[in-house]
Amino acid sequence: MDVIIESLGETGIVPVIKIDNAVDAVPLAKAIEAGGIPCVEITFRTAAAEDAIRRIAGELPGTLVGAGTVLTVEQLDRALDAGARFIVTPGFNPRVVAHAVKQGAPIIPGCSTPTDIEQALEFGLDAVKFFPAEQSGGLEYLKAVAAPYSQVRFVPTGGIGAANLAKYLSFAPVLACGGSWMAKEDLIKARNFAGVTALCAEAVRIAAQARTRGGR
Ligand code: 3PG
Repeated sequence: MDVIIESLGETGIVPVIKIDNAVDAVPLAKAIEAGGIPCVEITFRTAAAEDAIRRIAGELPGTLVGAGTVLTVEQLDRALDAGARFIVTPGFNPRVVAHAVKQGAPIIPGCSTPTDIEQALEFGLDAVKFFPAEQSGGLEYLKAVAAPYSQVRFVPTGGIGAANLAKYLSFAPVLACGGSWMAKEDLIKARNFAGVTALCAEAVRIAAQARTRGGR
């Protein structure tokens, strides 16, 4: 597995961020880091994404910054140019995946079916985003869909929070869980960075317990 993608499994949590104001990016990533999570996925759902990635990449060497909701080759190039170290997509777009592979950029494409997963395998990938996790059928569905693909690790995202994080992380094929629950838009808008740190610390505690129970 790509070493950068593998490193997301160290804490097992990938905060998914929608940020409107790039000025908030560094304080936010610092707050996430203070809560014990050394990575962040900035989604291309706002115009501030590229600038936010650039600021975090330039100012916070201890945080691994990635780009999420990457829908086009053009966004992928902008994300990499800004300093994104990994790429996440909501669905499986062969053109975007092919471009990432060609650039040597670690990519976690969205997959929710066996057909999607097999496309990822065709590109030599062994980690995929299971999206939208809860809405697609949750852990039971993931267990069924993961069964034929013992070499694939999953990053479930969508509908995950403090209440169901442990159950996903207890399933060995889950590399990490993504989600916005520890850095919701309202907390960011209110610049409640202490609140973000507290939610991240809670998530880290839950993840560590889940993995201890799972024998990892
Ligand atoms: C994503 O972009 O990965 C998801 O929208 C995050 O889902 P969540 O907001 O339910 O955590």
